[in-house]
Amino acid sequence: MSSVTIRSATLTDAAAILELVNRLAAEQVMLPRSPASVIERIRDFVVAEVDGAFAGCGALAIVWSDMAEIRSIAVDPAHQGLGLGRRMAKTLIAEARQLGLPQVMAFTYVTGFFTGLGFEVVEYSRLPHKVFNDCLNCPKFYSCDETAVLLALVPKEELPAPLGGPTHLPLPGKGGLRPGMPTPNST
Ligand SMILES: CC(C)(COP(=O)(O)OP(=O)(O)OC[C@H]1O[C@@H](n2cnc3c(N)ncnc32)[C@H](O)[C@@H]1OP(=O)(O)O)[C@@H](O)C(=O)NCCC(=O)NCCS
Repeated sequence: MSSVTIRSATLTDAAAILELVNRLAAEQVMLPRSPASVIERIRDFVVAEVDGAFAGCGALAIVWSDMAEIRSIAVDPAHQGLGLGRRMAKTLIAEARQLGLPQVMAFTYVTGFFTGLGFEVVEYSRLPHKVFNDCLNCPKFYSCDETAVLLALVPKEELPAPLGGPTHLPLPGKGGLRPGMPTPNST
């Protein structure tokens, strides 16, 4: 029987993380990562090993004082469907809980994977942290086909009020640009 380990990543995992994420990104199922973005954020990552060999990765990024984001979660196709993704996500969620973060979000093409972990589908407008940090520079801003999902780690009545933000800016998604609205990078 195979032995599975979920552990924190080290810099020696960076090459395997990049290879897997960018191989799957080439199939349009997730977003690519640059070497610098993986190396700089290596402390965000956990790695899944099967019999001591790299089999998957996932990252938890703190995006605001009350919000973390699961990013770049990926399992090598040879090991998909065996529970590694779920185990890595649960590890990342436990880390968010330990850090005192009340909410975890993700932008994803695999909504069912996240709803199976208790996430709910939300409007992009609930997640201005993402929109105003990452989405504004994304080439798919007006053709975004990802789904925003959110997991509350505290009772709903204890959740912080949604973060405010400039209301005149457009939101990502098809048809997001309306007449008179500024483009994301306009000044
Ligand atoms: C999505 C991914 C990380 C899931 O990892 P995994 O190890 O294959 O998934 P698990 O075996 O842990 O499955 C956990 C649950 O999620 C479900 N699930 C897995 N992949 C799914 C998918 N693509 N769509 C919907 N549900 C999915 C499984 O059916 C399972 O549900 P169950 O417990 O009710 O049977 C993996 O399939 C993958 O790397 N996909 C390509 C990259 C990707 O899409 N990453 C997500 C970027 S946000």
